[in-house]
Amino acid sequence: MTQDELKTLVGHAALAYVPEGELIGVGTGSTVNKFIDALGASGKKIPGAVSSSVASTERLLALGIPVFDANEVGDLAVYIDGADEIDHAGHMIKGGGAALTREKIVAAQSRQFVCIADESKLVKALGKFPIPVEVIPMSAQHLCRRFISMGATATLRLKDGQPLVTDNGQHILDVAGLQLADPLAFETQVSQWPGVITVGVFAYQKAQVCLLATANGIKTLSF
Ligand code: 5RP
Repeated sequence: MTQDELKTLVGHAALAYVPEGELIGVGTGSTVNKFIDALGASGKKIPGAVSSSVASTERLLALGIPVFDANEVGDLAVYIDGADEIDHAGHMIKGGGAALTREKIVAAQSRQFVCIADESKLVKALGKFPIPVEVIPMSAQHLCRRFISMGATATLRLKDGQPLVTDNGQHILDVAGLQLADPLAFETQVSQWPGVITVGVFAYQKAQVCLLATANGIKTLSF
């Protein structure tokens, strides 16, 4: 099976976690796109979704699924999103698609986080994938130096030769070269640094379930 076929498989599998009649949270990325397409085709009756990015909002609306502002609604039944890496405790690295801040907000508003991923994303320890950190632009170089002093490298993410600007009007640093022995401690520490908006380590806001697409079908991990 190709990686694209695995993403389609797991996107469909996530439908089982969508309760009819309830609002859900929807993440961002190529795996979530498969879920959104499956949801649109499924005929499942939900009042709508809260979305974690402009891209996902546009895709949901194009399929006739209403999208609500996070402030208009209360708790969400479930949050469905992908990950760049997930470990055996449900901790994740997220933000490869630059949507990490809204992803963490919508995840926090949801009663359950269901991560959908292909098996290449499952790791023993987080950190091979560079950790995205959304930052206030004026803090970027100072924060790069702080990461370097931890033994990492930190690179300002570019798009078309210019700093990438997130949906929130901010910048992204990609931090490489760290193996996270304690993801929660790292998330807690970096979240306190002035200028950091969101660190793309989801340990406090970890997954409760991971649907992992493998060559032998869907494997369900519960944490
Ligand atoms: C976006 C994310 C995505 O969930 C993550 O990058 C995985 O994306 P994909 O499903 O395309 O591999 O965190 O900010």
